[in-house]
Amino acid sequence: MLGVQIDGAVGILGVCWVRAFCCCGRGRGVCGRLVLLLARGYVWMGVFRLNVAYLSARVASLETSPIRKLIDLVGKMPDVIRLHAGEPDFDTPLCIREAAKNALDCGYTHYAHTAGLLELREAIAEKAWEDNRVEADPETEITVTCGGFGALFATFLSVLNSGDEVLVAEPCWPSYKGFIRLAGGVPVFVKLAPPDYALDATSVQGKITERTKMVVLNNPNNPTGAVYDLPQLQVVASLAREHDLLVLADEVYEKIVYDDTRHHGFAGVPGMHDRTITVNSFSKTYAMTGWRVGYAIANPQITGAIRRVHSYTMSCVSPAYQKAAVTALIRAQDRVQQMVNEYKERRNIAVEALNRVPGLRCVKPHGTFYLFPDIRGLGLPSAILAEQLLTKAKVATIPGSAFGPRGEGHLRISVAASRGDLVEAVKRIDDFARRLPSGVD
Ligand SMILES: Cc1ncc(COP(=O)(O)O)c(C=O)c1O
Repeated sequence: MLGVQIDGAVGILGVCWVRAFCCCGRGRGVCGRLVLLLARGYVWMGVFRLNVAYLSARVASLETSPIRKLIDLVGKMPDVIRLHAGEPDFDTPLCIREAAKNALDCGYTHYAHTAGLLELREAIAEKAWEDNRVEADPETEITVTCGGFGALFATFLSVLNSGDEVLVAEPCWPSYKGFIRLAGGVPVFVKLAPPDYALDATSVQGKITERTKMVVLNNPNNPTGAVYDLPQLQVVASLAREHDLLVLADEVYEKIVYDDTRHHGFAGVPGMHDRTITVNSFSKTYAMTGWRVGYAIANPQITGAIRRVHSYTMSCVSPAYQKAAVTALIRAQDRVQQMVNEYKERRNIAVEALNRVPGLRCVKPHGTFYLFPDIRGLGLPSAILAEQLLTKAKVATIPGSAFGPRGEGHLRISVAASRGDLVEAVKRIDDFARRLPSGVD
């Protein structure tokens, strides 16, 4: 507290000094200007010290997501083929956009219920039953949140106490680490192996301690594109039962699966209903990333806590966008299928082309719109390769190391880009690889 007061005093003193020097600096030539500059520096120092003193240790230690940093950087660069971001390149289907406009005209412009419009919660309950045979009571078990992000934040904050450990399969979406730390928890990484990154009992069990409270299951998986089959889910289910763990099932890519692959909602695995918090979202399935609508399904006790956190952070999701989300669930399934078919074609084209690049090997993922090629044959660390591809070949990708040490040796490439862009991007990667002096297979 004393430190804060002293730093506060430094800041205030600095402001007084600058006022005084501003007066004497004006019209006093080089010397006056120098004094003014010094005074400004003193104020910055004061403000800086003030800020540091006020930051919570929890937030001060938080790193910006490497993906967010790259998105901000690439946003400023012209002529780059953008295969880095995690969002559909399609526009939101027309019927959804029209539903939102109509809702605005009909007066859905006020605060909504914290839990979400009952109409939307009922549509989500219907969907959960149809898709996953999960029974969810719209009154007590579903909360509409600001995207999957809102559902994840509220969930971790609702269940974690300081020091609780959360198992996360790695390579993993880097935001989990930030969410868990923000909530006071400790992320513990379960290292999975390429090329299929399958979940196995030994690797998960080996990381369980007395402090383990939860397992994060991202299925289909960002960045590997893996879709866990029923036996793998049953492994996690039996460990959850044996060690009394919660399971956070992040299923935001559930509809983006290919070939004969079937996605199984984890809450539908026998005995897992009450232990599972299902996080889902309209962002990826319906090309609605900017709308910020998602949801969490959990037992009534956890839902009560999620709603309290949501009420103190977002309060509610825009009701017009919730009306649009109802239309998405009821009327946009054909459009979803078209988008998934297109991702599948692009995946096939890109995987085939990448496998012709010397030094690269790429498995065909069963889900998501990400490819995760093995780049070890090029002999460069993933961060260097991604940086050189960006600056020299003008292709933006995400280095595998952004997804944890187990992601090293890989790149994440999104196929949420036009076929023409994908073909051109792989051609540029190929040219780049062939010009590398050494390291190519
Ligand atoms: C695995 C995963 N979960 C959740 C989200 C959150 O998405 P949104 O908040 O747009 O629903 C993302 C976004 O990239 C993601 O990749």
